[in-house]
This record gives sequence, C-alpha cells and structure tokens, in this order.
Amino acid sequence: AAPLRLGLAGLGTVGIGVVKIVQNHAGLIAARAGRPVVITAVSARDKSKARDADLSAYGWEADPVALAQRADVDVFIEVMGGHDGPAKAATEAAIAAGKDVVTANKALLAHHGQALAEAAEAAGRVIRFEAAVAGGIPVIKALTEGLAGNGMRRVMGVMNGTCNYILTRMQSAGLPYAEVFEEARQLGYLEADPNLDVGGIDAGHKLSLLAAIAFGTRVSFDAVELEGIGAISIDDIRHAADMGFRIKLLGVAQMTGRGLEQRMTPCLVPADSPLGQLQGGTNMVVLEGDSVGQIVLRGAGAGMGPTASAVMGDVIDLARGIRLPTFGQPATTLASPVAARVATA
Ligand code: NDP
Ligand code: HSE
Repeated sequence: AAPLRLGLAGLGTVGIGVVKIVQNHAGLIAARAGRPVVITAVSARDKSKARDADLSAYGWEADPVALAQRADVDVFIEVMGGHDGPAKAATEAAIAAGKDVVTANKALLAHHGQALAEAAEAAGRVIRFEAAVAGGIPVIKALTEGLAGNGMRRVMGVMNGTCNYILTRMQSAGLPYAEVFEEARQLGYLEADPNLDVGGIDAGHKLSLLAAIAFGTRVSFDAVELEGIGAISIDDIRHAADMGFRIKLLGVAQMTGRGLEQRMTPCLVPADSPLGQLQGGTNMVVLEGDSVGQIVLRGAGAGMGPTASAVMGDVIDLARGIRLPTFGQPATTLASPVAARVATA
C-alpha cells in the first residue's frame, strides 16, 4: 500500500519525539497501519540548530505554510505551538490544500477549534488532537469511541503536568518554587510561555476541549472559570498537608441546570485519594458516563515520549483510514454553550 506521507512542523520536544517513533518503530507502525508511515519534509525556525535525531533524509521548508501545501504531504503535523501566527496559518493552509491535520496545540484549538473544525469539515478533512489534552493519555479516544454510547455527566481531572510537578515537588522535597520550576523545564513540560502553565490557562484550554467533546458543545474557553497556582506558597502546601490534604489544580466540567459549567482552579483533595497521590508530571482524568459510571485514566501528561505517543496514535488512525470528526461529531452539529444553557435552564 502507498505510504502515508507526513509533513512535520516543529522540531522541539514533541516534534523530535515524533521523529524518534517514526524512525524506531517503522516496521511496527507499517504492520499496525497496514501501510508505511514516512516523514517527507520538516520545518522549524532554525535549520542549523543541533537536534537529537537524524533529519538528513527529510526535505526542509523554512515556512510551515509551504510545508503544509507540499504535494508530497498527506498529513500535516503541527507541533510548533502558539494560538495565532504560523500554527494557525499553516493549519488553515493544510486544510485548504486538502490535508488532514494532527496537532498537539491546545491553545490553537481552544481559541480557533470551532472555525478550524468547520473548515476541515467543509473540505472533507479532519483535525485530530489527542496529544492536546492530557499528553499521553488517550482520553479523546476514550470519549469519542469507547464511551460513545454514554451520556456524559461530568469530566474532571488534573491536566497540567507542570503544575502537578511543581506542587508535588514543593510538597514532597520541600524545594522552593524556582528550583522545581527549573526541573519542569528540563523535563520538557513547560509551554514556550510558562505563564500559560502556572496561570492555569493551559489546563483551561484542555478542559474546554474535553468539555466540548463530552457534552457536544462548541469550545468555550472564555467561559472557563480560571485560577492558576501562582499564589500558592509552600506554607499553603504544608498547612494543607497538616490537615490531610493536597493542593491540586483541578478541572471540572459538567452540565448543570444553569448550563455547561467549567472550572479550573486549585482545590484541596484528600491526601490518600487517587488525585491526592498523583505525583510529578502525571495527569489524571475522571470521566463519568450515565451507563459506564466512573472511569479513571492516569498517565504522563507531558514530555517527549508521552506526547509523541498520542500524536502517533492519531497518525496511525489516519493511515488506517479512520477519520472521525474533530470533536467526535460534525462541528456544524455542536450546540453553542449559550444554547445549552438556555435549553437546560
Ligand atoms: P518546543 O518549544 O520544544 O518546540 C517548538 C518547535 O516549533 C521548535 O522546533 C521551533 O523551532 C518550532 N517553531 C516555533 N515557531 C516556529 C515558526 N514560526 N516557524 C517554524 N517553526 C517554528 O515546543 P513543544 O514541542 O514542547 O510543544 C509543541 C506543541 O505541543 C505546543 O503546542 C505545545 O502546547 C504542545 N504540547 C507540548 C507538550 C510537551 O510536553 N512539551 C505536551 C502536549 C502538547 P526551533 O527549534 O528552530 O526554535
Ligand atoms: N505544558 C503542558 C503541561 C504540556 O505541563 O501539562 C502538556 O500539555
């Protein structure tokens, strides 16, 4: 069978993770996908930068938009980041050029997901984004496939590895904020703008995507009640521990009588609960469906391997011809959150 040809925009933590999987697991991927999956060309800002992978066999495009439009690219992978600028322009260009898109970019989707999904739908293309929510945990697949027969009651969880890493390391090792922040950077957890992490914004982006999928609504990031971890001191963490609690940046989305509620805020959770015991960059997502009850998914929420694992899961689906709509249902059928509020009031 003809190979699926990838254009990879972004050669940072996630992009190099994707290269490694494509190179190290070529045989396994071909067997599972039923056809080879190859990278034809790549793009980043600095061509001369040393990278931890052999890229010599790939074409180079200085402009990610040009990469997205190449005739020898079937699937455009966007792992550059940023919710406007080249990530948005290249994703739009890829759709217009008839390519499917795989992205890890929750900021892009939280701000422009609806418009991009509608554009993709009109063009008969799909945008897949498993890596954008909870890193390596296949939570979007769980919602759109395994739990598709459920009415969802609530989704919640810890969805930012950086914040969980900082909070747990401050607590367990008694280390100051600056030191654990630097550790998180070394582990590849941080966004290019780390204020997105510690401000709760990155986790809010993820919650808004998960809520849209779970409740069949348009993405409404602006409606997420947000508070980050910036104001939490080591004394707060110690006092909470003295009372048998841990502080977690916890997201909750549920459909209530007042409509869709979305909150991403620091919360006290019992120290001996599964959420309380969540360490380091680990994420935990709790899904509650009317038939299945409660499902708990736990795993690495950030970093090279876990995030690239999620990107490749989407790529292999596309290679197999599995082309689910972006939000698990056509974007044009999603209810607006305002309509949902009125309908359930
Ligand atoms: P990095 O900062 O490590 O890498 C970004 C890459 O994009 C770099 O190779 C950079 O080029 C390239 N790039 C940036 N701007 C441009 C541009 N204007 N034109 C061409 N290339 C550009 O980011 P990450 O790999 O950590 O993250 C990538 C995406 O994945 C983001 O959307 C992030 O939110 C998301 N994500 C990240 C996770 C993680 O754990 N790191 C987990 C889940 C999602 P150069 O190298 O030359 O500077
Ligand atoms: N900066 C993000 C985090 C990366 O720390 O969780 C994963 O989305």
